[in-house]
Amino acid sequence: MDERFTLIIFGASGDLTKRKLIPALWSLYQGRTLPEPFSIIAIARGDLSTDAFRTKMRAAVTDFARVQPPAESVWERFAASLSYCSGDPKDPALYVRLGRLLEAHPNRLFYCATPPSLSPEIVTRLGEAGLARSHGGWTRIIIEKPFGRDLESAQALNALISGFFRERQVYRIDHYLGKETVQNILVFRFANGIFEPLWNRQHVDHVQITVGESIGVGSRGVYYEEAGALRDMVQNHMLQLLCLIAMEPPVTFDADPVRDEKNKVMRALKPIEGDSVDEFAVRGQYGPGFVTGERVPGYREEPGVRPDSTAETYAALKLFVQNWRWAGVPFYLRTGKRLPKRVSEIAIEFKPTPHLIFRREPSGVRPNVLVLRIQPDEGMSLTVEAKTPGPDLQLNPVTMDFHYGAVFGSGPPEAYERLLLDAIHGDATLYARGDWVEYAWAALEPVLRAWSDGSTAKFPNYAAGSWGPAEADAFIERDGRKWRRP
Ligand code: BG6
Repeated sequence: MDERFTLIIFGASGDLTKRKLIPALWSLYQGRTLPEPFSIIAIARGDLSTDAFRTKMRAAVTDFARVQPPAESVWERFAASLSYCSGDPKDPALYVRLGRLLEAHPNRLFYCATPPSLSPEIVTRLGEAGLARSHGGWTRIIIEKPFGRDLESAQALNALISGFFRERQVYRIDHYLGKETVQNILVFRFANGIFEPLWNRQHVDHVQITVGESIGVGSRGVYYEEAGALRDMVQNHMLQLLCLIAMEPPVTFDADPVRDEKNKVMRALKPIEGDSVDEFAVRGQYGPGFVTGERVPGYREEPGVRPDSTAETYAALKLFVQNWRWAGVPFYLRTGKRLPKRVSEIAIEFKPTPHLIFRREPSGVRPNVLVLRIQPDEGMSLTVEAKTPGPDLQLNPVTMDFHYGAVFGSGPPEAYERLLLDAIHGDATLYARGDWVEYAWAALEPVLRAWSDGSTAKFPNYAAGSWGPAEADAFIERDGRKWRRP
């Protein structure tokens, strides 16, 4: 098989190229997993020589790559495949030049690493220039999130793309799916016999999915003003995590079987009615506060943010998957910026025993909890009750813990490494399919609509460095449950 490929990056001067794409490609190259020969054509508007671009990328790799640049000679070989092409992605003439440049390159992977408003333009220009077709090899395109900003715009973008590309050429990236621990959810569920019998409404009381960040919006205020936590994190990463936990076993671990099963979860989501949004969703925005002992500004003081902004930096949802496996089991999702720490985890809380024989145990027993830790400190733990040594019968929770780092040594590869490699190999299993993206927007549509009426938001309602607004605690406590404090 002809393994050579050419990656064409639109948005070469952007953060994504510098922080993620080139460092990931470099690490793959170093690990000898990148098919060779390859070429990388980086496109941006600025005037820059290829030499100057290579120098910039060398610095980027030094700052951001998992695998540090070693001997100069190895970098030189990698850099020889990098070239810079100055051009405006809106200008049809760029695509004519590109067509000529690519003549001897049959296998082409386009990457839209530009601001989202440019993706439709790039797709159209590629299509009009005949570059979406195959040219003796394969042609694929990777589109970054956010994929649209609501159901209507996502449908329009899907329709536009399908006018030029077939679905199997399109790779909608969600970097959470490339994380080792996220991939492991399916291995854990479907390569072990002991969990599956428990994985249902008979045994599971509820599920909590937390993606907490201690950082604020930093320099991304302008983008975040238009996005908010629901669009930025829930519509993509968190609903993907929910699907991996809730889905039925796919027939095989291949793109369509896996993505078909995820779609079934999305179709089973209980719709949130417009007039009951407050029962199922809570939002928040951080004010000033302290994170790890350091004083930090409130969201409204961040650069690019309106002083009366109503963008949510925290969102919590309660969702139900209405099928035989999960009927009546709540899935609580929460995400926020400026929480006390960076922590992503999925906690499966099991039902209590049907009858407690240890009557003298004053505090009762705590439920068993299985926690899949996505990051940091990747791993998993199972909490069970045990007898505290001593003459009395005292129960205490103990935890069985597995740490990736301790077992496998070195840190896991970056999500972008796996995802880029998959796109080069033509495997879309870890990418979002067009119909899934639309289901995800449709599920959130009532909440987005209710929250677009900013006048009702009483912001800020949580201090930076806290676990979110008091309303979020009340929200879960109404159901007789509590948020975990990871
Ligand atoms: C991105 C969001 O998709 O994910 C960011 O746009 C967020 O706002 C980031 O910070 C979190 O990713 P990770 O890999 O650091 O958990």
